[in-house]
Amino acid sequence: MSERHTRDPAAHGQSGEKLGLSTGTYPLLRPRRNRTDSWVRSMVAETRLSVADLVWPIFLREDENSDREIASMSGVHRLTVSEAVEAAGYAQQLGIPALAVFPCIDEDRKNPDCTEAVNPDNLVCRAVAAIKEVVPQIGIICDVALDPFNANGHDGLVHNGRVLNDETIAILCQQAIVQARAGCDIIAPSDMMDGRVGAIRCAMDQADLQDVKICSYAAKYSSAFYGPFRDAVGSGGKLVGDKQTYQMNPANSDEALREVAMDLSEGADMVMVKPGMPYLDVLQRVKERFAVPTFAYQVSGEYAMIQAAGRNGWLDGDAAMMESLMCFKRAGADAIFTYFAPQAAEKLHAG
Ligand code: PBG
Repeated sequence: MSERHTRDPAAHGQSGEKLGLSTGTYPLLRPRRNRTDSWVRSMVAETRLSVADLVWPIFLREDENSDREIASMSGVHRLTVSEAVEAAGYAQQLGIPALAVFPCIDEDRKNPDCTEAVNPDNLVCRAVAAIKEVVPQIGIICDVALDPFNANGHDGLVHNGRVLNDETIAILCQQAIVQARAGCDIIAPSDMMDGRVGAIRCAMDQADLQDVKICSYAAKYSSAFYGPFRDAVGSGGKLVGDKQTYQMNPANSDEALREVAMDLSEGADMVMVKPGMPYLDVLQRVKERFAVPTFAYQVSGEYAMIQAAGRNGWLDGDAAMMESLMCFKRAGADAIFTYFAPQAAEKLHAG
């Protein structure tokens, strides 16, 4: 045993004062003392995860005849409007504050002008209205982007192989308005066009929708982790090219701060970092720098990885789920979008 590891502090030849917090070390300090029992671990915990932190993203299908199963996301299903209403009721019972809704529309409704995105009677609007009628107290978040409605899978209008910025924004503003009029509480632009937050804010204000909030997907990266989501909304198979001309380069984080600053100055009420786990450093920087409501999205690929490994017995799926969600909180997330929301809420209630 080296001298440093001697039990008797006197053997170090140090006085009592010298063994204060700043200079003290083992054996006076034993961090394990605060880990002996569950009660003390909980008492000194720096972060808490609660059901109030969870947002549940759900997928919608047109009717009973449309596919329910999503092969790459076991445990997640596309829901009809009435199933979505049921899910909302269950979410409310669990204390989940909000749902995010994503449509998988029939192929024959998709076109390059994305006209279905602005149809006030489209799948999203019908689901929002139906949920609000039966479960009015739950928050509803709607994505603003064209990919579920676009014949080519892109978030914006495509012309000669280019994704058009300003022309896309004009449609996004209408999309936001039809969703807000259907009863959506938070408009969430996930398209990454420049200037869309300010344009949507102005358009909604002019339409007398001042109280509808905007959660901007401010730092949204061009990521391979969105694969299962694209299966779920049926946009992946047709995607022409990739989304690197509008979604961010995973190599950058200063740029995320600039994106967030712009969206806040344009009127965003909350900002999002996405994907989640591989981007916790970005989340932490955003939260520290701006101190505004900052959300994280544990995206479909992250869900699929934990779920698949759990199902195969390669890791404890429930434990990995709860740990991953706690880590979002520790990094600074005020809320977490996660497909695990109902399972995590059930676990949190079970204690
Ligand atoms: C669409 C959108 C995507 C996600 C949320 N909104 C996919 C994409 O940008 O291709 C991903 C969510 C997930 O993977 O869970 N704009």
